[in-house]
Amino acid sequence: MKLVNIWQKNMNIIKSANIDMDKIPQHIAIIMDGNGRWARERGMPRTMGHRAGVEALRGVVKCCSEIGVKYLTVYAFSTENWKRPQSEIGILMSLLKEYIKKELDELHAKNVQIRVFGNLSQLPEDVQKAVIAACEKTKNNTGLNFCLALNYGGRAELIQAVKKVIQDVQNGLVQPENINERFFENYLYTSGCPDPEMIIRTSGEMRLSNFLLWQAAYSEIIIVKEYWPDFNEKSLLEAIWAFQQRERRFGGIKKVEEEI
Ligand code: FPP
Repeated sequence: MKLVNIWQKNMNIIKSANIDMDKIPQHIAIIMDGNGRWARERGMPRTMGHRAGVEALRGVVKCCSEIGVKYLTVYAFSTENWKRPQSEIGILMSLLKEYIKKELDELHAKNVQIRVFGNLSQLPEDVQKAVIAACEKTKNNTGLNFCLALNYGGRAELIQAVKKVIQDVQNGLVQPENINERFFENYLYTSGCPDPEMIIRTSGEMRLSNFLLWQAAYSEIIIVKEYWPDFNEKSLLEAIWAFQQRERRFGGIKKVEEEI
């Protein structure tokens, strides 16, 4: 078991949780749910839950970068989140901008590459600029790929992909008979990223909520009870341990059963 470059605190958790460092998933995706309930239970406005959620995110990004996760995708704002009150949308947008402003230098120093999945063009201009600048600054980094699903919806992603494929067919760039799964993936926002081996959802809800619908085909879904602001490095390592206990068959059968 390789235990390199991990802070002492996490090392203890890893040892006690018995995590196999050779089987750290390369792509972890997270549905950060429960910010509103976390705040309500404390008699605070929902937006305080989002603020606390940003703190949780900081810790999780740091931990993923240190244990060698290659891709971390977080559901930061969905295509359905526009239905929320304007005031809450405004806070989420400013939190995002604030987060980038505060964290960018440190993320860059840690060799993290920031990427975005989603339709940026509908976001406020200042947010678009901050996000694009962060992606640009970190584009040559080779450590953790930190992917923000922003104005992201799995169905919208599929529709935009289909439209681009049709365009390429009409322009004679693609022959319909050459379209297969691997080829189609080039048209998704996640082009070039491996599918997430595990998707974590906090707050006990058991839904995908339009997140990575194509990419989740064989993801292990790990549901944790904690609200997102309470999710910390220890919770992440426990989720990875739970993932490592799963048997992934991808539609096949167990190895031992092959001989029977
Ligand atoms: C779900 O909780 C959370 C969101 C819709 C937004 C997640 C955003 C953050 C963690 C903060 C901003 C992000 C970045 C990247 C800086 P909810 O509001 O649906 O909670 P509820 O189900 O308890 O109401």
